[in-house]
Amino acid sequence: MIKPYYEEENITIYNGDCLEVMKEFDNESIDCVIADPPYGLNYLSNRYKYGNPHLKIENDDKLFIPIVSLWQKLKTTGAMYVFYSHKLPLVSDNIKNVIIWVKNNWSAGDLEGDYGNQYEMLAFMPKGNFKLKSKRFSNVWFFDREIPKYHPTQKPTSLINRIIESATNKGDIILDPFLGSGTTARACKDLGRKCIGIEISKEYCDIAVKRLGQEVFDFAEVNR
Ligand SMILES: C[S@@+](CC[C@H](N)C(=O)[O-])C[C@H]1O[C@@H](n2cnc3c(N)ncnc32)[C@H](O)[C@@H]1O
Repeated sequence: MIKPYYEEENITIYNGDCLEVMKEFDNESIDCVIADPPYGLNYLSNRYKYGNPHLKIENDDKLFIPIVSLWQKLKTTGAMYVFYSHKLPLVSDNIKNVIIWVKNNWSAGDLEGDYGNQYEMLAFMPKGNFKLKSKRFSNVWFFDREIPKYHPTQKPTSLINRIIESATNKGDIILDPFLGSGTTARACKDLGRKCIGIEISKEYCDIAVKRLGQEVFDFAEVNR
C-alpha cells in the first residue's frame, strides 16, 4: 500500500506516478476525475523565458493521458474532465462534448510566426448515468487566466470550481492524477468535496500542501 504524502480531513495527496498510485484504488470508486496532464504547449511566456521562477514540469516531453485507467476508477454515475491540446490529441468514444475555455489573454507564444492562443480544450466524458448537478452551461466557458504564482500551467480556481459544482455534490470524491500546485485540492476543500491528488514532483506536492494551509490567496503579491 502506497503511503500518502499528506493527509487532512477529506484531502489526500500522493507523491508518485499516477499510473502506479492508481493501481491501489478500487474500480468505480471515484465520482469525478479532473485531469490536467502535461500537454506539451510552450507554456513559458516571454516574461518567464529568462529567470523562469517555476520548477520544471515532469514529463512535459513525454505526453500521455491514462484514459483507460482513469475511466476504470470512475463510478457509473461519474464524469471525467480532461484538459488536452493539439499536441496531445485525445480520441475516445467516451467524449460526449468538448468544452472550450476562452482566456482573456493571448499575448504569449511565437509573437511573429503564430496566432495568439486564446483557448484550451476540456474533454467532457460522463459515464452512462451521470446527470449535471448545476444549471446547464454552454460548452464555451470564459474565465480569466490567473497569474501563475504556484505553477506555470496553473488553472484558475474559478474554472475548477465550475467543474466541481456542475459535476459533483458535497462529500463526493474527486481524483486529480496530475495535481500540480493543488488547485483542485484547494477548490475541493473550499467546496466541501473530498479530493485525492497525485503529483510526481515532491516540490509541487509541497506547494499544494502550502496552498491547502492558506485561508485566502493574494495574487496581487506576485506583482509587488
Ligand atoms: C499541467 S500540470 C497540472 C497543473 C495543475 N492543474 C495546477 O493548477 O497547478 C501537470 C502536472 O503533472 C505532473 N506529472 C507529470 N507526470 C506525472 C505522472 N506520471 N504522475 C503524476 N503527476 C505527473 C507534473 O509534475 C505537473 O505538475
